[in-house]
Amino acid sequence: MVAGMTQSHPRISKAVIPAAGLGTRFLPATKATPKEMLPVVDKPAIQYVVEEAVSAGLDDVLMITGRNKRPLEDHFDRNYELESALQKKGDADRLAKVQESSDLATMHYVRQGDPKGLGHAVLCAAPHVGHEPFAVLLGDDLIDPRDPLLARMVEVQEQRGGSVIALMEVAPEQIHLYGCAAVEATEEGDLVKVTGLVEKPDAADAPSNYAIIGRYVLDPHIFDILRKTEPGRGGEIQLTDALQQLAADEKVGGPVHGVVFKGRRYDTGDRGDYLRAIVRLACEREDLGPDFRAWLRSYVAEEM
Ligand code: UTP
Repeated sequence: MVAGMTQSHPRISKAVIPAAGLGTRFLPATKATPKEMLPVVDKPAIQYVVEEAVSAGLDDVLMITGRNKRPLEDHFDRNYELESALQKKGDADRLAKVQESSDLATMHYVRQGDPKGLGHAVLCAAPHVGHEPFAVLLGDDLIDPRDPLLARMVEVQEQRGGSVIALMEVAPEQIHLYGCAAVEATEEGDLVKVTGLVEKPDAADAPSNYAIIGRYVLDPHIFDILRKTEPGRGGEIQLTDALQQLAADEKVGGPVHGVVFKGRRYDTGDRGDYLRAIVRLACEREDLGPDFRAWLRSYVAEEM
C-alpha cells in the first residue's frame, strides 16, 4: 500500500478513454479513420494510451467511440486470420505484436452518438463506472511512457480523495488553447490545490499558466454535475466547466488537486505535435533509432 493511503477511498480500477471527437484538425486523414488510430512509429496512438492505463494498474478500459470508430474496436480484438497466417509462417515476433493489443486489458465500448463535447463523452461512462472514482485518459494525448503521470495521480487521489487533474506549465501565448487552473501551493512540490478552472481563456484573463492536459482522476459526483451542465464554449458540454463546480465546492465530491507534469507529452491530434512525437520516439527506439538518427542528422545538415 502507498504510504499515507487511507482505506476509506475505493481503489481505482476503471479507465475511460474518450475517442469520439471528429478530429477535424487532421483532415483528410481522419475522414474515414479515427485520429487515435494514426500510427506513432508502428503503433496506433491509442495503444500507447491503453498501455499507460494498464501500467498505472487500471485494466478495465471503457472507450467512448462514435461513427467511423470501428477500427478502434478491431484493434483491441483478436484477428484470427492474421494470427493463423503468421503462425503458419512461424513468425513469432509479428504474431506477438498482433496479440499484444488484444491481450492488454478488458475492453468495453460505448457510443457517444453526437459528439457534444468532452463533458458529454465522459457522462456516457456513468452507467459503466457507477459510484467509484475513475480515470479519464484522452485518446489523442500521448504521455511519454518513460514519464509516468497517471500512477502519481492515482496515488494522490487515494491519499487525498476528491479529484485530481494533470497540469503543465505553458507559455502565456499558448494558454488560450487549453483549460486553465487557478492554484494554491501544497507541501508537495509537484502538487497544487485547484481553486478554479476556466476553459481556453485569453492570455489577459488567465489565472495562471497552468494548462490542463488529458489525464484526470475523477470523483463520481462529476456525473451529477455533468447532467446539469449546459453547453459552454463552442456549444459543447465542457468537462472543465463541471470540474470548476467541483473545485468551487469541496463539500460536493471533495477537493480538486493538480499534479504538475514536467515530462514529455504530445497532442497527437495536432499535426506538428504528431510529427514531433514520431521523430522523438523513433530516434529513441533500439531497433530503428540508430539508422533513423544517422539519416536525420545528415538530412538536417543538408536541408536546414
Ligand atoms: P478535441 O478537442 O481534440 O476535439 O477533443 P476533436 O473533435 O477530437 O478534434 P479536432 O479539434 O476536431 O481536431 C479532445 C478529446 O475529447 C474527445 C476526443 O476524441 C479527444 O480525445 N471528444 C471530444 C469526445 O470523445 N467527444 C466529443 O464530443 C468531443
